[in-house]
Amino acid sequence: MIRVEREEAVAIVTIDRQEAMNALDVATLTQLRDRLRELADDDSARVVIVTGAGEKAFVAGADIKYMSGLDVDQAKEWGALGHETGRLLETMPKPTIAAINGFALGGGCELAVACDIRYAASGARLGQPEVNLGIIPGWGGTQRLARLCGLGVAKELIFTGRIVDADEAQRIGLVNAVHDPVLDKAREIGTLLASKSPIALRLMKELANRALGGDHARNLEAEGETFGALFSSEDSKEGLAAFVEKREPKFVGR
Ligand code: CAA
Repeated sequence: MIRVEREEAVAIVTIDRQEAMNALDVATLTQLRDRLRELADDDSARVVIVTGAGEKAFVAGADIKYMSGLDVDQAKEWGALGHETGRLLETMPKPTIAAINGFALGGGCELAVACDIRYAASGARLGQPEVNLGIIPGWGGTQRLARLCGLGVAKELIFTGRIVDADEAQRIGLVNAVHDPVLDKAREIGTLLASKSPIALRLMKELANRALGGDHARNLEAEGETFGALFSSEDSKEGLAAFVEKREPKFVGR
């Protein structure tokens, strides 16, 4: 099951299927997709944290027992559901943070990589072991990992299926920081981001998501356009005025 808790403007989404190391079966992944859709459209949620229940796993991947019975069409549908879920984390108009509390393997690592920011507990283990099952990463692992860690590191990890510990994950750029308890770090940064202008965050995310693809000159033009247009917002006036008046800004999201 998927639990969603609110701590003011921060939503914490917990994937709870502990009997299977939080591996995602159809019901759990569908629920996760549906909860993320709702949070994407809900302006009162300014930041979304995703974590796994218990101490052992973030998500140990797609459910292998379920996958062992799939035919080609069913496997395509299964891949599409994972892609849609990753896409929501990557593109929803607010920051998403993965709090990796244990194993993040296969589809679990892929969902974490689809988030904007990743923190890991010191005992976390990450990797793409699909190759050991005779399959390939199917929820973004052949694409997003390279954007995060560089193509050479990504190829080594997906070709070998090697699992990395939290320190190595940080060294190769797979996670932003290692912290125990990891949810405290995610909460701290989530609360910080919830105090910023949601409009500025939404636009930065949209622009940053273009940084590694498309036409560089056109992307810079889009940044220039957006930078200018944002000066009509209340939040920009508030932020600039608060600095001049030597006070803390109060952003309203307009
Ligand atoms: N799918 C289904 N069940 C899983 C699972 C998975 N991905 N991962 C763990 N489980 C289940 C185990 O089968 C076991 O259930 P039973 O008690 O009913 O046998 C239970 O969770 C506990 O797991 P273990 O006994 O194996 O625990 P462990 O501590 O010895 O090992 C582990 C933990 C290293 C995570 C190990 O379970 C493991 O290697 N899991 C599979 C990881 C994996 O290969 N993930 C990639 C899946 S493919 C994928 O995700 C494709 C994609 O790109 C979308």
